Amino acid sequence: MKPRLLVARAIFPEVLERLAQHFELITNQDDESWTAAQLLQRLQGAWGIFTMAGERIDAALLAACPALKICANMAVGYNNFDLDAMTAAGVLATNTPDVLTETTADFGFALLMATARRITEGERLLRRGEWTKWRYDMLAGADIHASTLGILGMGRIGQGIARRGALGFGMQVIYHNRSRLDAETEGQCRARYVSKAELLRDADHLVLVLPYSASSHHAIAAAELAQMKPSATLVNIARGGIVDDAALAAALRAGQLAGAGLDVFEGEPAVHPDLLTLPNVVLTPHIASASRPTRLAMANLAADNLIAFHTQGRALTPLNRV
Ligand code: DGY
Repeated sequence: MKPRLLVARAIFPEVLERLAQHFELITNQDDESWTAAQLLQRLQGAWGIFTMAGERIDAALLAACPALKICANMAVGYNNFDLDAMTAAGVLATNTPDVLTETTADFGFALLMATARRITEGERLLRRGEWTKWRYDMLAGADIHASTLGILGMGRIGQGIARRGALGFGMQVIYHNRSRLDAETEGQCRARYVSKAELLRDADHLVLVLPYSASSHHAIAAAELAQMKPSATLVNIARGGIVDDAALAAALRAGQLAGAGLDVFEGEPAVHPDLLTLPNVVLTPHIASASRPTRLAMANLAADNLIAFHTQGRALTPLNRV
């Protein structure tokens, strides 16, 4: 008998077909939003779940789903998983690292460029029919080339952004991370390790790429924003909750910061209403990894994890040991 697998969100039909060869599927191709209670109900008797970073897997859910053996996230971030509770319950957690690194780094750079060079602001002005003549200071933003790029969180994606900045745009790259990179990796990224205070003080553009956890909650709040240059750009492609969005909106309104590019939000898909009213913010709906090939690779890696665990007893990219 095939084990039962709950695929909690809509995914590529070809990936569903692969999964259907190994599992009895419960799917959600209409992509309905399930409450926690509905998720729990559908998980009854399931061996595994295919998640998309929005489904919370915690001790209460695990206690109510004793048959569950694996949760495969189609995301590199896994702050929806309580890993300790999963390990204690003997449930394997997997994510999808590496396959999205370059695509996400591309997007981080695109968001940085759009914000610093005021691209979406310009497009809105043009579409409103307000472009009547060239003017010396119209939408004059900040330079990217030869500026100082700050990166908070120097994992694989942070390193990809550093390489783009240093090698492609001649930027001085500084970073802060929980642990310093080895000298060889620092050399490849042409990045210099600094304290968080130096990072905030010296960056012309600050990109956030750190994982979300209780310790990174509001890592950028009013006090940190006050340390940044008034001409600086802030880009968040990490997770909502790392930035205090209300404090960011206040800082932007007060001119403490030149602009922000945000792909993730506290409480998304809701966006803080103050951010929506500000012209100097570029807002995108959590799409940093959203190229078609990358999203397909993420879905296939999550499926590979489930299939390998079922057929060989081990996953390709596990997050815990059970
Ligand atoms: C990730 O992979 O973590 C992306 O943010 C999608 O959730």
